[in-house]
Amino acid sequence: MYPILLILHSSLRWLILFSFLYALIRAYYGWLANQKFNKLDSKVLLITSSLAHLQLVIGIVLYFVSPVVSYFLHNFKTAVHQEQFRFFGMEHALMMLIAITIITIGSVIAKRKATDKGKFRTIAIWYSLGIILIVAFMPNW
Ligand code: HEM
Repeated sequence: MYPILLILHSSLRWLILFSFLYALIRAYYGWLANQKFNKLDSKVLLITSSLAHLQLVIGIVLYFVSPVVSYFLHNFKTAVHQEQFRFFGMEHALMMLIAITIITIGSVIAKRKATDKGKFRTIAIWYSLGIILIVAFMPNW
């Protein structure tokens, strides 16, 4: 199960990166050029946040089956000083959790905004923050 999850988790990052890039381009363009928030924009919002949640679920399962994390948790005192173990055992998981929370909050707020400009602006700002964290804490580029 571990190798399959790792391949899934690793491949899904590209889908996430490209779909978020597309969502961000639409959001900034919609915001700055005063576009209408249409059905495609709603779909993009739904697909991007669903992809992020799928990655979250895979990531959480991976956390409990990964030998790297297992070593980190069982040898915390020494592993916390070893960059690779600390990265997967703490930094990556925690920062990605925060990034996905930011994305989720952004998409919920965007849906509730009354104006199209407000929706685009909310997505642009919250998704930008989320994607910066994802890019910064993503391993194996
Ligand atoms: C958008 C969010 C995320 C992205 C883009 C992402 C991306 C990645 C990538 C590219 C790898 C390296 C895969 C490889 O070595 O082939 C990885 C590993 C890992 N990720 Fe994530 N990740 C995300 C969220 C999460 C979350 C939320 C968790 C846990 C709560 C998590 C847990 C892990 C673990 C445990 C590994 C290392 C497994 C190992 O090498 O044994 N990830 N992640």
